[in-house]
Amino acid sequence: MNRKVTVFGAGFVGSTTAQRIAEKQLSDVVMIDVIEGMPQGKALDMMESASIEGFDAKVTGSNDPAACADSDLVVITSGIARKPGMSRDDLLKTNAGIVGSVCESIKKHVPHAIVIVVSNPVDVMTYLAGVKLGFPKNRVMGMAGVLDSARLRCFIAMELGVPMRDVDAVVLGGHGDDMVPLVRYTTVAGKKVEDLIPKGKLDAMVARTRNGGAEIVSLLKTGSAYYAPSAATVDMVCAILNDEKRVLPCAVWCTGQYGVKDMFVGVPCVLGKNGVEKIVELQLTGDELAQLKKSADHVLENVKRLNL
Ligand code: LAC
Repeated sequence: MNRKVTVFGAGFVGSTTAQRIAEKQLSDVVMIDVIEGMPQGKALDMMESASIEGFDAKVTGSNDPAACADSDLVVITSGIARKPGMSRDDLLKTNAGIVGSVCESIKKHVPHAIVIVVSNPVDVMTYLAGVKLGFPKNRVMGMAGVLDSARLRCFIAMELGVPMRDVDAVVLGGHGDDMVPLVRYTTVAGKKVEDLIPKGKLDAMVARTRNGGAEIVSLLKTGSAYYAPSAATVDMVCAILNDEKRVLPCAVWCTGQYGVKDMFVGVPCVLGKNGVEKIVELQLTGDELAQLKKSADHVLENVKRLNL
């Protein structure tokens, strides 16, 4: 294929992302990981599924960061995942070292790529990537809002017994306990969700969305979610590679929108061939804006802990 995506990190999120990209025929995929043989083994295994799944995308694995050269887009999933009882913030220092060194390789080998950060705590890692890469800010973004919105859509659809696709939801803010699910903008086939589900139940779904990652971690016990995170990541990859101009909530560089300045935070934006092409400003209430500010402040506190 004439397009190439590199996925740094061939763990569960990275390899499922690679698989989804290949199966959707979006591009060739390279997985890069430090563990010897692992990305190569997973890539070969995926290639051996190609004749059955019917894809022509080429999937390869490497331990050499230089294998990312000539990529159109790079996804960073490298880093450790949460164990039960850990918050995403607990991963901060370890993953900052790992993501920082991945960024050095990207800067060296593929300076024109668009970069999607997935490693946690994702808002802080996206900030770090923004600083380390020094790329124009439209080419650096974090994946969180698409995942958090998908979780809320799932809980609502399961509650109402309606098709998942008919539920629309937007979740803004950081990917943490203070994320901002916008219930007012959540609809089911055009109807406001607030008119369909009693407030108490809806509040519980919002809480479950905020806790969505931890719920999976506590069930799995040895790792964190990957099916929904990889699906969310590939939704963004697809919007960019196919220049779809979709409006998706992503962690992007704000320059005053929503009262947030010089920070990466989750807001709706247009994704196309240039990466983040525009931030979409929804009308928020004072309370929603305050929640978003609180969430952005929390990200900033963690950014400061990194002494960048
Ligand atoms: C989650 C992790 C990926 O929310 O942050 O599942």
